[in-house]
Amino acid sequence: MLSCIKINVEFLKKVLDSRPIYSLLRNYSHNVEDILHLDGNGEENYNFKEKYRVLDEKDYARFFSKRSLKREPALTRALTSMVYKIGKQMISLAEGMPNEGIFPFDRMQMTMKNGNKLVLEENELAMALQYLPSQGLPSLLKLLREFQEDLHRPPSLDRDVLITNGAQHGIYQCIDMLVDPGDPVITTEYTFTGYNSALRPYDPEVLRIPEDEDGLIPETLESVLEERLSRGLKMPRVLYLIPTGNNPTGTIIPAARRRKIYELACRYDFLIIEDDPYAFLNYSNVKPPSFLSMDQCGRVIRLDSVSKVVCAGLRGAWMTAPAPFIERAERHSQAELLHPCTLSQVIIQRLLSERSDLAAHIHSARSFYEQRCGALGDALRGLSHLAQWSRPKAGLFYWLRLQGVSDVYNMTFRTALEHGLMLCPGQAFQYDHSGPSQHLRLTFTRIKLEDIDTAVRRLADVIDIEQKLELERLPQRWATER
Ligand SMILES: Cc1ncc(COP(=O)(O)O)c(C=O)c1O
Repeated sequence: MLSCIKINVEFLKKVLDSRPIYSLLRNYSHNVEDILHLDGNGEENYNFKEKYRVLDEKDYARFFSKRSLKREPALTRALTSMVYKIGKQMISLAEGMPNEGIFPFDRMQMTMKNGNKLVLEENELAMALQYLPSQGLPSLLKLLREFQEDLHRPPSLDRDVLITNGAQHGIYQCIDMLVDPGDPVITTEYTFTGYNSALRPYDPEVLRIPEDEDGLIPETLESVLEERLSRGLKMPRVLYLIPTGNNPTGTIIPAARRRKIYELACRYDFLIIEDDPYAFLNYSNVKPPSFLSMDQCGRVIRLDSVSKVVCAGLRGAWMTAPAPFIERAERHSQAELLHPCTLSQVIIQRLLSERSDLAAHIHSARSFYEQRCGALGDALRGLSHLAQWSRPKAGLFYWLRLQGVSDVYNMTFRTALEHGLMLCPGQAFQYDHSGPSQHLRLTFTRIKLEDIDTAVRRLADVIDIEQKLELERLPQRWATER
């Protein structure tokens, strides 16, 4: 009887524990194929290869930075890879790996919300706590290569995958590999802070291309490039963008625009860093093909991450790119961190290998965030006289442009804090973050649903105060200007 009660209590606890995610399912398809699927590229209609050259191994040398070209493979790291391939049959006096016998753990178990258990013991546990080849856990790499093939169906090309320590690590690697001090680089006008922070030490010339409701405007990009070409200016070798749910603007670039941008990359000879951590948090009815899926000519470096749909602390991410690029990125990893955490890679490998469970999780995570996105959107309606915004099509952010406030900086760090409200100022997404910004980025990820109305009321009060302060400052200017 007692054990029966215990089982029921545990069952109830499991149901309640998982409730915030699993009870909010919307009418997205539950079909695994639909969830782990992007719309086709219609590749047959877009034969870039007919018009443009496919880059070969030697071509990448002109994209690599001087620093990157100096990197040599680390010999001891090559030995670690050999251990994984052939080492088991050899007596070894070579590797510097610690002996697994000294590891202080016997068994590890993680229980998932759906009841699945991840148990590691004996050899598997020893492997999960040991050094790895820099490219990543071989079984995870194999799985990711298949995953990318199934999800993106990229045109055939010699491509590979590298595990990174979060997508931010991938961004940092790409910049270090592709940017020399003073180089021009292309990005959207407002973009992820992490990209700007990684870029700044290289003193680049940042070509910030404006966005509209559909993200980066290819016609503007084309005219910027054409003008540079006609003036004989140095041409950019790299474009960074977040195609689905740009952080902070929430835009999704539609398929036709993606093709135009891809074609510009072929025509003006640059590479595209496709940073897509919000790919599965798309609340719209269209799932445009990835840049990877149209990459016939070897110009796309795609960054994926589990941070936004599984969890962030695992630092689980991977880069998919032409093989010569991955080979050099691996040299960077060898020198930077040897490899990302093995235990994390083992956990991610288990998560990704159960596709139907993964799809169910993604499905519920997206519904969870979509509900919050809607709740914040509803509350914001009362602010339409104070700000403009569009509902994000994907991702985790609202991007507000305030009226009557020419700079949100002091408002964020003084007035808002005095009113018990934390805000993120638009400066965080500008390359020049010392300049003024009229924007705020609002997120709905962790706020309690019941706190949303209060937060928005406080925001309205804070904007109102700032507008008045700004009006008080104005007459002085009028006095001197008149
Ligand atoms: C566009 C974008 N790229 C990368 C990252 C960092 O992801 P990760 O946790 O995988 O390093 C973020 C996190 O906010 C992001 O918004």
